[in-house]
Amino acid sequence: MELNEKEIAGFSKLNKRDKIYWLAKNFLYANPVEVLKEFAEYWHDNVEAQKLLDGFSENTLTNFPVPFGIAPNFKINETIYAIPMVTEESSVVAAASNAAKFWLSRGGFKTEVLSTKKVGQVHLIYHGDKSKLFTFFGEIKNDLKKGVQHITTKMEERGGGVVDMELIDFSHLEPDYYQIRAYFETVDSMGANFINSCLEAFGREFVELVNLSTVFTDKEKDIEIVMCILSNYTPECIVHAEVSCKVEELGTFDYGNVSAEEFAWKFQRAVNIARIDPYRATTHNKGIMNGIDSVVIATGNDFRAIEACAHTYACRDGVYRSLSECKVENGIFTFWMNIPIAIGTVGGLTSLHPLAKRSLELLGNPNAKKLMEIVACVGLAQNFAAIRSLTTVGIQAGHMKMHLTNILASMQANDDEVAKAKSFFADKVVSVSAVREFLEKLRTKS
Ligand code: MEV
Repeated sequence: MELNEKEIAGFSKLNKRDKIYWLAKNFLYANPVEVLKEFAEYWHDNVEAQKLLDGFSENTLTNFPVPFGIAPNFKINETIYAIPMVTEESSVVAAASNAAKFWLSRGGFKTEVLSTKKVGQVHLIYHGDKSKLFTFFGEIKNDLKKGVQHITTKMEERGGGVVDMELIDFSHLEPDYYQIRAYFETVDSMGANFINSCLEAFGREFVELVNLSTVFTDKEKDIEIVMCILSNYTPECIVHAEVSCKVEELGTFDYGNVSAEEFAWKFQRAVNIARIDPYRATTHNKGIMNGIDSVVIATGNDFRAIEACAHTYACRDGVYRSLSECKVENGIFTFWMNIPIAIGTVGGLTSLHPLAKRSLELLGNPNAKKLMEIVACVGLAQNFAAIRSLTTVGIQAGHMKMHLTNILASMQANDDEVAKAKSFFADKVVSVSAVREFLEKLRTKS
């Protein structure tokens, strides 16, 4: 097959330098030496460390640095944490820190893991008498479990394993489609490899047992395994996080003279709006995920899995809703969230990535349940900070203050200019044009 200059065979076999040269020539139209120099600036000094990072992915050219920050003063179930957060969004760490400090003197965050079950599915096609299939499944369920003992022994020693499984009939929605849904306990690991290995073994074993059985006709024995894969939807892997205090303890808010009581009601209304309107709920939940993802990434977990699950859970009753809830009752303000967070503290990147390892150390090397609790509290804190700003001073004041740093950096402001701009804009509206004008004036003067 003829390839044009933008197509290539065997890209993965090129070394790093040649990959960069090829890209520079065919996509960036830039001097390859310059591009190589730029990419190389982000290579790790330590060759072994770079090799490790390269190994996490494929066709790696360089590293993509994202800030690693700390939100201190998090009081969670009476323990104080300094939380590692990896995010590129200015104001996320500041907002979490603010909320943490606010709740530090009001009892802190209370949290509890409610359940830890993970889910996997064997999707199969069966053409035949469904009552025969269900009866047979009931009879061989334990054999399927026994058939994966070589995979589950170690997990069972740690307290995990295959918890249960059921056969579900979907043939009214897709012709002849059935599903074996299996439930797992994976203790401190995220457990993706463990679950997928079990599922593939279930699939093979199921076909074999059906074929050995005398109750099925030849046509019925022709079972097709469509796929075996874990589900990232884990509605039974739930953590509860909560803050509460007397309404008067919420304090007064300078902005527009908002009293504690007014604030409590405004806050509750804002959460209620996110419970009824998917447009608002999406942004509301995005704010929660700002906090959750940052810690999930810092600890080497899979944030896409956490995101996907959270959003499915948010529409579990058919309408996409806020993940958090709020009530003001008998003079008490309570703000809480139940959220599925299937994460691990062993396996995967958690110990391989040097900074993920450090993050876990910072958190006192928590087990998976503790980490679920910490992550949920950061999500709740982030949500609290956002709703507090939105219902009082508005979001832009804080955002633009943080954004000012980015604007100044994009305009190559020096330290002196940054200091002057920060003091000038302390009580003014920040915009790109206002900052440009300020810098131009400053630069002309000097
Ligand atoms: C921005 O990243 C997140 C917020 O929009 C969340 C919210 O509106 O609740 C501030």
